[in-house]
Amino acid sequence: MSEAPLLSVRAVDAGYGHVDVLENVSLDVGDRKIVALVGRNGAGKSTLLRTISGLIRPRRGQIAFAGANLAGARPDAIVGAGLLHVAEGRRLFRRQTVDDNLELGRYGLRLTQAEHARRIERIHALFPILREKRGLHAGSLSGGQQQMLAIAQAMMRAPKLLMLDEPSLGLAPVLVDQVLDAIASLRAEGVAILLVEQMVERALEIADDAYVLQNGRIIASGPAREIAAGDALRAAYMGEHGAAARA
Ligand SMILES: Nc1ncnc2c1ncn2[C@@H]1O[C@H](COP(=O)(O)OP(=O)(O)O)[C@@H](O)[C@H]1O
Ligand SMILES: [Mg+2]
Repeated sequence: MSEAPLLSVRAVDAGYGHVDVLENVSLDVGDRKIVALVGRNGAGKSTLLRTISGLIRPRRGQIAFAGANLAGARPDAIVGAGLLHVAEGRRLFRRQTVDDNLELGRYGLRLTQAEHARRIERIHALFPILREKRGLHAGSLSGGQQQMLAIAQAMMRAPKLLMLDEPSLGLAPVLVDQVLDAIASLRAEGVAILLVEQMVERALEIADDAYVLQNGRIIASGPAREIAAGDALRAAYMGEHGAAARA
């Protein structure tokens, strides 16, 4: 048997109030892997990320991260364990500078000066544009640059696992490639990634493994290359114009 995955979701049911969304969802993210979670609008992708990050309490099932049980844990405890969630939409402080936004990323975290400098250095090596634009307002950056800043903000906490919800939303195609390339380079830095992305074809190119979610259930999983070539993906996107063409 191989060693336990970094994140392991087992038989999770979750939803909102009386609304059931996720049913019997199981998913693994291995250390230093990129795992793509795909499926049409409303399938429950964001709900699954919210459940893993503790914003929604699962009704049933287990969530283990780095050896600890996280199901029902508080969001701040989950962040503290090294699991960060970059939610849909870029939640930046648009009227503050790029540097200030990075500082806000480490809110509540005590770092030695040396460690702080090391993290900034690492972020600038990953996203050189954030060094170039460090004194500018976040709101003046392009959409792709803002997305990189949102990811960099999470990187200030040196996560083990980053969950990214639709990082390419609203970006021009050339910027989508930039952001996805940046995400691929995070893996080289030792960060595991759970990636929700509507640019399915591109996401599957950079992912190691993939899961297809349909109506709150996982209908297929496996190596990203096999999922990209398989029928489940087409079935999951059937009837959704645009996404079907991209998939
Ligand atoms: N806050 C909420 N309250 C009630 N239902 C919600 C809420 N957020 C999402 N939903 C419902 O949960 C289902 C899954 O939504 P979501 O997880 O956002 O899907 P996806 O991210 O795959 O597009 C949808 O039917 C959606 O309408
Ligand atoms: Mg969503």
